[in-house]
Amino acid sequence: MQFPAVVFLLTLALSSTIKARKCPKECSCDDAKLTVACIGKNLTEIPLGVQEITVKLDLKNNNFRILPRGGFLHTPHLTHLSLQRCNIFKVKEGAFRGLGRVVSLNLAYNKIDILYQESFDGLSSLKELHLDHNHIEEIQPGAFMQLGFLNMLTLAHNRLVYIPNMAFQGLQNIKWLRLSYNSLSNLAPEAFAGLFSLRRLSLDHNELQLREVKRLELSYNPITYLGEESVSMGKLTHLYLDHMSLQDLSDQAFSQARLLSHVDLGHNQLRYLEPFSGPAKLHILNLTGNPIYCDCYMRPLKEWATAGVKLLGACAGPPHLSDEPLQAVSPSDLRCRSRAEALEEEEEEKEEEESNGNITTTAKPKQTVKCPHNCECDVTHHATCESRGYSKVPRGFPAGTQLLDLRGNHFHYIPSSSFPGTSQVVSLHLEFCKIREIEGGAFQGMRNLLYLYLSHNDITFLDPKAFAGVPKLTYLHLDGNRLTRFPGAALSLLPNLFILHLEGNAISKLEPLSSAAPTLMELYLGNNTISVIDRGILSSSLIKSLHLDSNQLSQVPTDALAEAQHLEDLNLSRNVVRQLGPKTFQNISQNLKRLYMDQMGIEKISKEALLGLGPGLKVLSVRGNQLKELPDLSALAGLEMIDMQDNPLLCDCSLLPLRRWMESVKLEVSATCSHPLELRGQQVGDTTAFATCPGNTERVAVRPRPVKIKSSGEKPRLQKPQLAKLPRNQHPRKTGKHKKTKNKKINRGN
Ligand SMILES: *[C@@H]1O[C@H](CO)[C@@H](O)[C@H](O)[C@H]1NC(C)=O
Ligand SMILES: *[C@@H]1O[C@H](CO)[C@@H](O)[C@H](O)[C@H]1NC(C)=O
Ligand SMILES: *[C@@H]1O[C@H](CO)[C@@H](O)[C@H](O)[C@H]1NC(C)=O
Ligand SMILES: *[C@@H]1O[C@H](CO)[C@@H](O)[C@H](O)[C@H]1NC(C)=O
Ligand SMILES: *[C@@H]1O[C@H](CO)[C@@H](O)[C@H](O)[C@H]1NC(C)=O
Ligand SMILES: *[C@@H]1O[C@H](CO)[C@@H](O)[C@H](O)[C@H]1NC(C)=O
Repeated sequence: MQFPAVVFLLTLALSSTIKARKCPKECSCDDAKLTVACIGKNLTEIPLGVQEITVKLDLKNNNFRILPRGGFLHTPHLTHLSLQRCNIFKVKEGAFRGLGRVVSLNLAYNKIDILYQESFDGLSSLKELHLDHNHIEEIQPGAFMQLGFLNMLTLAHNRLVYIPNMAFQGLQNIKWLRLSYNSLSNLAPEAFAGLFSLRRLSLDHNELQLREVKRLELSYNPITYLGEESVSMGKLTHLYLDHMSLQDLSDQAFSQARLLSHVDLGHNQLRYLEPFSGPAKLHILNLTGNPIYCDCYMRPLKEWATAGVKLLGACAGPPHLSDEPLQAVSPSDLRCRSRAEALEEEEEEKEEEESNGNITTTAKPKQTVKCPHNCECDVTHHATCESRGYSKVPRGFPAGTQLLDLRGNHFHYIPSSSFPGTSQVVSLHLEFCKIREIEGGAFQGMRNLLYLYLSHNDITFLDPKAFAGVPKLTYLHLDGNRLTRFPGAALSLLPNLFILHLEGNAISKLEPLSSAAPTLMELYLGNNTISVIDRGILSSSLIKSLHLDSNQLSQVPTDALAEAQHLEDLNLSRNVVRQLGPKTFQNISQNLKRLYMDQMGIEKISKEALLGLGPGLKVLSVRGNQLKELPDLSALAGLEMIDMQDNPLLCDCSLLPLRRWMESVKLEVSATCSHPLELRGQQVGDTTAFATCPGNTERVAVRPRPVKIKSSGEKPRLQKPQLAKLPRNQHPRKTGKHKKTKNKKINRGN
């Protein structure tokens, strides 16, 4: 009975929207994909009448010349904007204002010569910016200041001669900066300051005066990657790249340095290396102090080296080759085995040792996996001493260990430098270790640590230097401790912290994140004792996901939230807030996608409380409150899920706007009447309660059950046989003339 109604309503909805949408006459529009393309039309102005909901706008090959201020204010939902080959020579300050969702902007092949201070304001989500093939000569200070999410910036093929100090300030997430094919001859000393996340810097094809150089020493720079043609120096013979942070190296890195005879790559983080293309006269390749893993991936290098290249350094693994000089390993030793095979072999080795009754001394380098007493260290670089009763952190893990699991011991106190020789560890588990105190420098030397688990200990206070020496730390778990203060000073040593768990502590006060943890994106603070969040705490932070559930907030911290411009997820559940006043969410981030306000004892949401929440909101949950009614939700055009279960909804005429809204959307809505008594248990969407409400002239009809998005595979199939019984033309909605007959039909449920 219900199915034809659904189909019918859907087609009706679709056809009416299609008719309603307009498309500028020079453009082609795809209403399903929400894309608009106006390519090669010699347009001189941004076309008017592009639908507001458009997500991709392609304007390449036009003739705009100048991009005016606020030129895209009418399309705030754009995620991709293409403006290449548009004869643009000037981008006015504020040109992209209002485009807070754009992730990719292409301005390549234009004639832009200056990047002004506010040229890119408003592009707060931008990830890729293409500015190659322009005429850029000048980058004004602060030009990129607002682009905190940018990953890739290409300025290749421009006319840059000089890069001033702090030119790229603000690019806190930049991974690749391309400056190739400019005329750079001069870089200010602080030209690249602040680019902490840079993985790749391309400076090839410039005029840096290095052509006559024979010997180049770049040792002790924190460079992590060398891309192709990184060293284009035809006369270079000696290159020193030792003590840097190299993790990878393109095989083409030296292809323009054909005379190289000596390359020092000592003390980097190289695990594998491919044969270099280019240098034909290489004599020495120094790999000392790298964690080289001698398996089949190293074979090409070894084979290449047999033609006269001396390889210095030793294998760091696998166990049977560790500490073996590279020069002594033959290509046929460099094999890959499955993990199972490797483990099996290790077992055999152990048995062999035991049957000899001789564990400590070994003739061959075969049996050198070291591991602290009573722990397990396997060839996959995992070491575990879980719940082994240690009261001090054990020492002597294999040098290549990447995962170190010490949970369930009883350390109480972690003194400084407790983890010597663990520079390769990426993940360290110290949960349930009864830790009360961590001395400054405790983790010193763990320079590759990304994950640190300190959950469920007894930490009440963190030494400001507790995290010294672990600059890469990205994920920190401190939940289930007894912290009473936000550990701002300790966190400020972590320039790469993204995710912080502090649930279940006794924190009552926060500190401004922009100074304590400027890179933080997710913050979990559930189950603390926070009662207020002051203005300024969240300002200029990058916080995307904020969990404040189960605290002691007595009102929504409107002012503080308004300053979290990147906020996407907010959990306020289980705070006691009885009323949401008129401007509760005014000025909140337009990026907000999910809002949870469950079990808060909310009795009333005032009419204008949700003002400020826009079409970006996808999930709204107000489960388990004391709501009798809900305000108009029609502004929340992007909702995909709303949960109002377990509220004492009163199904009388005051709920009519909600019911109407439910009829107009295609999402699953769970809402059950609780009053008046005779309607208790009925779905708001099904009940007949509204039929007699004043002003209800049209829309109360046989309402299809909500389209169940998740269970669509099952239920409709059961319903299908029924629907054949209702001839289409009897459906009251079809002609719209049968309003008076509706009530009979609605009563199907009773
Ligand atoms: C494009 O427009 C400009 C000015 O409006 C005009 O001078 C030019 O001839 C046009 N080019 C083409 C190919 O239509
Ligand atoms: C190789 O590197 C190590 C460590 O950096 C250094 O001590 C050694 O002298 C280097 N050897 C050569 C031949 O350059
Ligand atoms: C263990 O090895 C050492 C050195 O190779 C040797 O002196 C000793 O006798 C061996 N012990 C046993 C029990 O085989
Ligand atoms: C908060 O504490 C309660 C009770 O101790 C616990 O059941 C719940 O899982 C905790 N929630 C979080 C987010 O830590
Ligand atoms: C929000 O917080 C509540 C209460 O702690 C929790 O049960 C729920 O899982 C949280 N929701 C999300 C999406 O984090
Ligand atoms: C929202 O922002 C406007 C303009 O910045 C300001 O006047 C207003 O007080 C703010 N409202 C709230 C509730 O913070």
